[in-house]
Amino acid sequence: MNPPSARPLPAIAQRAQRLRTSAIHDLLQLANRADVVSLAGGLPDAASFPADALREASDRVLREQPHAALQYGPTEGIAPLREWVAAHLRAQGMDFTPAQVLITSGSQQGLDLLGKVLVDPGSRVVVERPSYLGALQAFALYAPEFVGIEADASGPLPEALAAALPGARMAYLQPRFSNPAGRSIAPARADALAALLRAADAWLVEDDPYGELWFDAPPAPGLIARDVPQGAHLGTFSKVLAPGLRLGWIAGPQGLIDKLVQAKQAADLHTASFNQMLVAEVLRAGVVERGLPVLRRIYRERRDAMLSALDANMPEGVAWTKPDGGLFVWVTLPPQLDAAALLPQAIACGVAYVPGDTFNVGAPARNTLRLSYSTVDAPTIRGAVARLAALIHETLHHEPALRSA
Ligand SMILES: Cc1ncc(COP(=O)(O)O)c(C=O)c1O
Repeated sequence: MNPPSARPLPAIAQRAQRLRTSAIHDLLQLANRADVVSLAGGLPDAASFPADALREASDRVLREQPHAALQYGPTEGIAPLREWVAAHLRAQGMDFTPAQVLITSGSQQGLDLLGKVLVDPGSRVVVERPSYLGALQAFALYAPEFVGIEADASGPLPEALAAALPGARMAYLQPRFSNPAGRSIAPARADALAALLRAADAWLVEDDPYGELWFDAPPAPGLIARDVPQGAHLGTFSKVLAPGLRLGWIAGPQGLIDKLVQAKQAADLHTASFNQMLVAEVLRAGVVERGLPVLRRIYRERRDAMLSALDANMPEGVAWTKPDGGLFVWVTLPPQLDAAALLPQAIACGVAYVPGDTFNVGAPARNTLRLSYSTVDAPTIRGAVARLAALIHETLHHEPALRSA
């Protein structure tokens, strides 16, 4: 073994210097303690992963098609999966052919590939406030100028999008049950935003990992279904099947998909053949279709527990979103409170959340936080929300140090 050297390491790319581990990330490691209820993560409920069905499908794939499953495969993805995705999108009013579908290693890889292919240093990228942290991180590597646009309960404001679009390269939006806001774009708002995008010289990237996790009724379609021809749609099997399979997709105009295929070839050649064949097999066997009503019931019960606990316990001046699907509730505290400053105390009280400023672009929003109900059972959610509410109450009345300056 070489002796340790005092010599500094050679230089790394400027691009890599943008990558950071946030202080919040470090703090949330504490939330892994057994005595802390984490409402911070947004992971799917692991107890609902269909492990037995996957084991049987895995046996079948390895018995019947071992060579294809274990060999290199096409960069675009395997045909049955691309066909399933195209049919799934067509049923939601999006007119993509299987050739316009690229299978990716999770939709997170889709975000990275879109950043690579669409974003130059200084390109303007329009995102709603707040936005998915993983998308902000993926795009940030390509040095864009982010423009955050305000939203209300119906979604991003048309006047804010109209002001941000001239000269923009891309708009990144989540139409349904967004992460972190737990918000969907209302149909009339979606029509207005789609009209603006149709007339603009910018790409639309529509990210929809949670659309199938609705509670009472299927949500309205997003913007691409309202005829935005320069729209790329991102989807994933992570929330409806299992994230460990790392399987997602991008569907988009052929010229864009062709370029993304070249970028993906350089990145990882293709998404794991075995995982693709496994998922094609469980889709064929109806496993996802049968699992969805169960997932919707579990998450709806937990959402109800969280909303009723917020209602029963939060002091006046605290507001929150009421999601009709997905995994997240977005909480806005009175303006004098700072959710990041409060987090160590919350962890000491046995409850963790993600401070909202983590998801932000532009002006700070220190008095916001994200709660997830996805991995915790209803009684535990009720207890954790009650403790958090007591801490907020206490801070509002007695702890000036944890308020914003
Ligand atoms: C909005 C959004 N997009 C994309 C992803 C990435 O999902 P995956 O790479 O597992 O498909 C997530 C994961 O939480 C998400 O919340």
